Amino acid sequence: MTTDLYAVFGHPISHSKSPRIHTLFAQQTGQIIDYTARDVPAEIFESELKNFADCGGKGLSCTVPLKELAWHIADEKSARSNRARAVNTLVIGNDGRLFGDNTDGVGLMRDLTENLGITVTGLDILLLGAGGASRGIIDPLLAENPGRLIIANRTVTKAEKLANEFKDRGTIVASGFEALNGDSFDIILNATAASLSGDLPPLPERILNPEGVCYDLAYGSQPTAFVRWGKKQGARLSVDGIGMLVEQAAESFFIWRGKRPQTRPVIELLNRERS
Ligand code: ATR
Repeated sequence: MTTDLYAVFGHPISHSKSPRIHTLFAQQTGQIIDYTARDVPAEIFESELKNFADCGGKGLSCTVPLKELAWHIADEKSARSNRARAVNTLVIGNDGRLFGDNTDGVGLMRDLTENLGITVTGLDILLLGAGGASRGIIDPLLAENPGRLIIANRTVTKAEKLANEFKDRGTIVASGFEALNGDSFDIILNATAASLSGDLPPLPERILNPEGVCYDLAYGSQPTAFVRWGKKQGARLSVDGIGMLVEQAAESFFIWRGKRPQTRPVIELLNRERS
């Protein structure tokens, strides 16, 4: 039996947990695959992708900063990746054609609903950040009919642009951070890049409702600044994006291999390893 090749491309990539996650999925489902991480800056993405396909690569995960570029390069794209204008999963056909999909949104929603038991319907949600990470999750959030979805960003015009892009999918309002003063929310999702540099978005006091939930799309070996902030605010739950990472990977694995791995044991293992 031949070993099918998969990889995650991104820059930086050394911290990536994707090879570990996909190797665990393959063991669990009896699939013979080889999944590696490759440091690929945007400038060499297309040439590295071609090399990988020439070597028999079957599929790719794309992470920062390649998701938008992958969306431009893919020959065929799923509706959800077109909504996000970003691709995190590429299928490389035998003829070299590229199919692009985006599993980030479904990954977040599965973590929220199935793993954490949170139903978004009717809740007031605050989404922090207007970059690529937000773009991938707005549509699936709106699909669950939240009470309100406010998108807040340092650069307000970026939040306005994003809100405008999704206005046909539900009610979404753009805001700056200061204008949030006096308002409060049931769920605060942090999709800014602040956590990556150990920073915290400038949030006003009492912005989290009692029993509220904080969710950081980023993750690290230690709790992020936002997760620590959420705990200090008395959040019922304040968690990072490790569950989303595993869930989006499971959906990608399913797209490539037609097998759905169990995510819970993998999330538990990754959490044990960093505690
Ligand atoms: P990505 O595509 O990975 O999300 P990005 O497009 O650079 O990256 O977006 C990063 C997001 O994090 C932006 O919303 C950015 O705010 P600006 O648009 O105002 O730059 C936000 N961000 C980064 N550092 C931040 C910080 N320290 N506090 C608040 N927001 C921050």
